[in-house]
Amino acid sequence: MLVEPKMHNLQAQIIARQLEKEFSSPTGTTLAIANVDLVVNKGEFCCIVGPSGCGKTTLLRIIAGLENHTGGNLEISHFDQSKPLNSMIFQEQSIFPWMTVKDNVAYGLRRRGARNIEEIVAYYIDKVGLRTFQNSYPHQLSGGMKQRVSIARAFANDPEILLMDEPFAALDEQNKSLLQEELLRIWEETRKTVLFITHSIDEAVVLSDRALVMTARPGRIKCDLTIDMARPRGAYEIKSRSGYGEISNRIWGELRDEVLAAKQKMEAL
Ligand SMILES: Nc1ncnc2c1ncn2[C@@H]1O[C@H](COP(=O)(O)OP(=O)(O)OP(=O)(O)O)[C@@H](O)[C@H]1O
Ligand SMILES: [Mg+2]
Repeated sequence: MLVEPKMHNLQAQIIARQLEKEFSSPTGTTLAIANVDLVVNKGEFCCIVGPSGCGKTTLLRIIAGLENHTGGNLEISHFDQSKPLNSMIFQEQSIFPWMTVKDNVAYGLRRRGARNIEEIVAYYIDKVGLRTFQNSYPHQLSGGMKQRVSIARAFANDPEILLMDEPFAALDEQNKSLLQEELLRIWEETRKTVLFITHSIDEAVVLSDRALVMTARPGRIKCDLTIDMARPRGAYEIKSRSGYGEISNRIWGELRDEVLAAKQKMEAL
């Protein structure tokens, strides 16, 4: 099944057709993803949910260019060559421990010799509320603050596509909600194409335009659910809106069977 864009007047940015990845090692092979059909449009915020081990990270790493696929096709459009194509934010902090907050945020900009670096860095450090910590080192920050640095760095770098692999999974509930709202505020200003992996149905509904549910391994896109909730959205406020429970239930309805299937496969090993 091909997941076609549901919105009109949008340009496709990421197109995967029958994408496949098989890992080979001396001990055997693992088919991580197979038959992945996916279209993500420019400016869309898409979340991917799926059972553990179904190939979400593998898919994101292939799209990031960090891994090769072993079958199918992947087309990624780079509309503005003056900008980097993508930035990736991981669950574990991906900032440099030997650099201050400011230098971490400036890293990508310096590498490509961008202009107005100081200004851009200050803007995004402010956006994520870290002004008083701009000269601190990562070991002086909490987990949530480190993820804020990652977000500031990714947006300062100004890529066309943001790839986020469970960036808030290690955070406590309140920090997670705050960061979701901060991310949404910055995203609404920039409207970058975002592919965001999460295990949380709530998170997918709060953040995304579309929730893509993956099957148990080998993962493929099982269904594509539009999250038709007006923006701006608040992490808790959205829960009281009509339609919230219904869409959450629909996602869980699709995901539940896959979680069970993944569990059965694990138990059979
Ligand atoms: N470098 C690798 N070499 C061999 N197998 C790998 C490699 N990376 C991932 N795999 C396998 O591919 C499958 C998918 O892994 P992946 O990390 O993409 O899953 P995931 O959906 O991100 O899981 P989680 O939700 O737990 O993060 C797993 O069976 C994993 O063991
Ligand atoms: Mg993963």
